[in-house]
Amino acid sequence: MGTLRHLMTPMDFSTEELEAIFTVADDIRAHSKDYLHSCDGQVLATCFYEPSTRTRLSFETAMLRLGGSIIGFADATSSSAAKGESVADTIRTISCFADICAMRHPKEGAPFVAAANSLIPVINAGDGGHHHPTQTLTDLLTIRTLRGNLTGFTIGLCGDLKFGRTVHSLIHALTRYEGIRFVFISPKELQIPDYITEMLDEKEIPYISTRRLDDAIVGLDFLYMTRVQRERFFNEEDYIRLKDYYILDNAKMRLAKPEMYVLHPLPRVNEISVDVDADPRAAYFRQVQFGMYVRMALILTLLNKTDAHINAGLLTEK
Ligand code: NCD
Repeated sequence: MGTLRHLMTPMDFSTEELEAIFTVADDIRAHSKDYLHSCDGQVLATCFYEPSTRTRLSFETAMLRLGGSIIGFADATSSSAAKGESVADTIRTISCFADICAMRHPKEGAPFVAAANSLIPVINAGDGGHHHPTQTLTDLLTIRTLRGNLTGFTIGLCGDLKFGRTVHSLIHALTRYEGIRFVFISPKELQIPDYITEMLDEKEIPYISTRRLDDAIVGLDFLYMTRVQRERFFNEEDYIRLKDYYILDNAKMRLAKPEMYVLHPLPRVNEISVDVDADPRAAYFRQVQFGMYVRMALILTLLNKTDAHINAGLLTEK
């Protein structure tokens, strides 16, 4: 029996631990048949109080491909939350049924409350505008696979940097790698929060902020596009004014380096023209696939099952 661990923010794992998860994910990608029974008899609960396509289905597919089973709800109105049950009581109940839980909630901190009251590992699958650590594991594995490492590149983050939790988690995670520079591209109203720029200042990590995608795109190694987060706006007028502020199209892609990859956590609304999908530098659908492998690796890690694979010699040295 290992210790009970949760994943609330990407900083909960050291860079060495993340590297171990990525190594397992690489091995799963190469030898998926070796993992078909790794979680036989175990149950994943997905408790989603907020809409999702990729994250929930990615977790569920990950568990099914490990031989486990899934339970859960995809909508708060179909759970006892609609009757007023607290997150603490819900997770105590889920702990009686499942071995591991992935939770998404519109309120910042809700999965932390769940983790504090849980007998099983809890994974934050997105809490309000705060964190989305498994998207970050996905993004890091994608970058690491496309570039071969996680150091020495300039990443532009474009769109809703104020409310975008994937952006907040990714920045925190990347500050631990050498030679990373950030370019924040957003309208003034959707600027990156001060607590993040203060953290970068403290760590002496270089960044610039600009409104102009056309100018910024020229120097980037990665461009991380994001959707304007309609559900977190206080009024619809502001959303309508800002929603199409950036549209990445082939004309803009011509300004970028030949090897500048485009990432996006998805869902896309209008911020990337569908014409860009055919560009070999568009990596957002490959990113979805990496998300499933990394969630498989994470489930194995939190259920303390990676040692079994290493001991059985299944995990090949890269
Ligand atoms: C993101 C999220 O939920 O924060 N989606 C995802 O999980 N891939 C991004 C978004 O909704 O814009």
